[in-house]
Amino acid sequence: MCGIIGIIGKNDDTVSHLIEGLRRLEYRGYDSTGIATLDNDAIARRRAEGKLQNLERLIKAEPIAGNIGIGHTRWATHGAPTVNNAHPHGNGKVALVHNGIIENFHELQKQLSGVHLESETDTEVVVHLISDYLDKGLPPEQAVHETLKQLKGAFALVILFRDFPDMLIGARKGSPLVVGYGGQDAEEYFFGSDALALAGLATHICYLEDGDWAVLKRDKIVIYDEAGTQIDRPIELSTISSALIGKGNHKHYMLKEIYEQPTVLGTVLSAMLDAARYHVQLPDLPIAPKNIEKITIIACGTASYAGMVGKYWIEQWAGIPVEVDIASEFRYRTPALPKQNGLCIIISQSGETMDTLEALRYAKQHGQKILAIVNVEKSTIDREADQSIYTRTGPEISVASTKAFTSQLVVIALLAQYLAQSLDKSVGGEKQPLELMRGFSELPSKLIEGLNSEEMIKTIARDLQEARDVIFLGRGKMFPIALEGALKLKEISYIHAEGYAAGELKHGPIALIDEYIKVVVLAPYDALFEKILSNMQEVISRNGKVILISDRQGIDAAKQQINTARDMELLSVIEVPSCHQDLAPILYSLPVQLLAYHTALIKGVDIDQPRNLAKSVTVE
Ligand code: G6P
Repeated sequence: MCGIIGIIGKNDDTVSHLIEGLRRLEYRGYDSTGIATLDNDAIARRRAEGKLQNLERLIKAEPIAGNIGIGHTRWATHGAPTVNNAHPHGNGKVALVHNGIIENFHELQKQLSGVHLESETDTEVVVHLISDYLDKGLPPEQAVHETLKQLKGAFALVILFRDFPDMLIGARKGSPLVVGYGGQDAEEYFFGSDALALAGLATHICYLEDGDWAVLKRDKIVIYDEAGTQIDRPIELSTISSALIGKGNHKHYMLKEIYEQPTVLGTVLSAMLDAARYHVQLPDLPIAPKNIEKITIIACGTASYAGMVGKYWIEQWAGIPVEVDIASEFRYRTPALPKQNGLCIIISQSGETMDTLEALRYAKQHGQKILAIVNVEKSTIDREADQSIYTRTGPEISVASTKAFTSQLVVIALLAQYLAQSLDKSVGGEKQPLELMRGFSELPSKLIEGLNSEEMIKTIARDLQEARDVIFLGRGKMFPIALEGALKLKEISYIHAEGYAAGELKHGPIALIDEYIKVVVLAPYDALFEKILSNMQEVISRNGKVILISDRQGIDAAKQQINTARDMELLSVIEVPSCHQDLAPILYSLPVQLLAYHTALIKGVDIDQPRNLAKSVTVE
């Protein structure tokens, strides 16, 4: 959850490099930040509550130097987001940064009787355990290894020592940690929570395996496995360029990432689809399609909504039974899984979400084959899956997921097509294959056209920002997009919003309808349109305001039915280009993203880093 970085350098720019790394890691949490360096043979620390800019201000006022150091950006678990609880934690002899949770910290604290703890965190105890071993005369490598043996839970740690100025030690168990190698001239070595943190700093990356720990010295890196045996891990060229992670001309990462969708989806489609030959190009699946008995899709948050749309597609086109589970529920509910030939599809942008990763492990232990749909290559989920399909969006920085979501949708739609074709099912159900293939091919241009509705959306957002509650309604494949629309709005604008299957309105939520509520209706002009139109009228007749998102035909049909001046006042519309009806969830994601973005913009809240959230949630 938190972001960690360590640098052992040769130049005086270590502090600025630590800050640069933390800037890339802020998506992992921004409750507090801090750095520690070895400055004139002493450990110097600077820590600040809140975002990185507060730490930068502090360092400007109270500078520190040094060419070896560690840094941290925190998403609070144990202990409030105060300076005292901010990392690095230290005692003058040792300072360290930590991501994850030390589950047995209470127990370990008891062993340390007489030691004064400054913070309420689960982390600080590790500082004292290592120091105790150093005091007993153990060299730092052994002190750390002995300490690691006592820790329970999931963690990544990077440790700085006052008396060993040429050394950093990092360890991972459950939480990710990479080692980075600097350019030829710089000769710097790094630890980072992920390769993204080291973009522009490290030219080569080594992904530590679970249980590994590594010793960075000024002239070499030595890696050990959990048992303490020296081991080699592959070193790869870093593929993430720092140029990819700027905001460009956009005010926020979220808007930049929304606008990237036509290109990103074009890249995914051209890598996976040969539309002229109706051919979907996929890596070999861990189970041959004809043998798949059941598919279980598991994910969290936005990714789980992509999975829900996937269920509609796979069942409709390929006829394979699909169950969709939220990762945090899956492994605690004794799911009935096929003994053989059960395929589990894990969807994750980061590839590091702890709930999702643990669900993957549970599914594996229970005999399922694992196919990951993942954005970050070499992430833990990618590496533990039997096979992965990449969503190829490049780094997604905004906490609210946009381009990763739509590319997850495209990948899962293509996977569903692949399954249907392999099983000789009629492609696209009742539809002609040609129409569906054209529908896929047209998606990038339809998205560009869809961006034209932004001005209209800005006007509607002005009205929406005053809403007390917002309900999103959708039917069929649009139901998960209603859930996603509500999630996007609440996470970045802090307006209470819920998504419902439109048919459920009358079974409860209709009680909420009054003049203070707004209802966003996602309704492409398809076989279910008439039904959702009735739901819309149920809202309008109770004075609820409706924002209809539909295509030209849908909007015309709605206006024909809603024809009194009073009712028309209650209706606003956002026009979406018409598209293949099975692919509408992909296109309709765009207006709900823009609606959330512009509502949050008007409210003046922090769009890219909404309160209490983090992009990559690496704790349970
Ligand atoms: C967090 C993020 C969500 C994201 C979810 C799953 O909750 O705030 O935007 O959808 O994690 O993340 P993943 O990286 O596994 O897709």
